[in-house]
Amino acid sequence: MDLGINGKKALVLGASQGLGQAIAATLAREGAKVIAAARNKDAIADWAQKGGLDITAKHVDLSDPASVEGLISMILEQGGVDILVNNAGGPLPGGATTPDRESWNKTFNTMASSLFEITTRLLPNMQEKKWGRILTIGSSGIVQPIPNLALSNTVRAAITAWSRTLADEVAGDGITVNMILPGRIHTGRVDQLDDAAAKRLNTTREQVVKNSLAKIPAGRYGDPQEFADVAAFLVSDRASYVTGSMIRVDGGLIRGL
Ligand SMILES: NC(=O)c1ccc[n+]([C@@H]2O[C@H](COP(=O)([O-])OP(=O)(O)OC[C@H]3O[C@@H](n4cnc5c(N)ncnc54)[C@H](OP(=O)(O)O)[C@@H]3O)[C@@H](O)[C@H]2O)c1
Repeated sequence: MDLGINGKKALVLGASQGLGQAIAATLAREGAKVIAAARNKDAIADWAQKGGLDITAKHVDLSDPASVEGLISMILEQGGVDILVNNAGGPLPGGATTPDRESWNKTFNTMASSLFEITTRLLPNMQEKKWGRILTIGSSGIVQPIPNLALSNTVRAAITAWSRTLADEVAGDGITVNMILPGRIHTGRVDQLDDAAAKRLNTTREQVVKNSLAKIPAGRYGDPQEFADVAAFLVSDRASYVTGSMIRVDGGLIRGL
């Protein structure tokens, strides 16, 4: 299927590794002109070069408003983008009373406010062109809060409400706004969380993985490419009538209807 994004300009955040990297690479292979951003710009340049992909690597630290502003200005000077993939690193594990006020504020600033600001500023260009795609990476924890991931569960709930609200506001401009929810896709983040769980429960990572797999009907973690393929469809021309949705890519993990 031709996704119809050849020549479209895309910004993918959190793209130095994991899900962001897989999405950025997939969009580039589909012919999009991709700007991939994260703190580790060199890592982006490295995986792009190894994959023979023509990708522009940019530095951004989503916890730093000045850095976010720098990225926005640079992109606006170049005429904006057609596709925006909102993604940031996940926060530290912990219960609902674990984070102090500073951690709540920092997580909200990094994972939510920065993405809201970037989207708000890049939207007018999409509105002018009457075409745009905004896709935000969420988590299964939005539907079914994940134990010991209070910061993530809570801040992502706010992002979900924002995304759904925005979808209505720009649907008439040919812009779709969706979320994509990973269950357990095998990235560095999942390895880190499994290691942290093993330490907390005084067991091995193998045991933690075994327990996780028992809850996934597909019986395995997902591959980042499987996730990126769904993301690529959602930002494609073909998905023009999908908006305000949360699409699960979770091997059946989320049991709720
Ligand atoms: N993998 C899963 O199964 C899964 C499940 C549920 C939710 N999620 C969520 O989906 C998102 C992506 O997951 P992932 O597995 O790809 O995570 P990952 O492997 O840890 O990658 C996170 C990406 O975000 C970037 N990042 C982190 N902090 C940043 C900052 N302050 N400014 C700019 N970029 C930053 C990282 O790059 P730099 O370090 O170079 O900045 C990296 O490229 C995360 O929010 C994660 O919590 C993932």
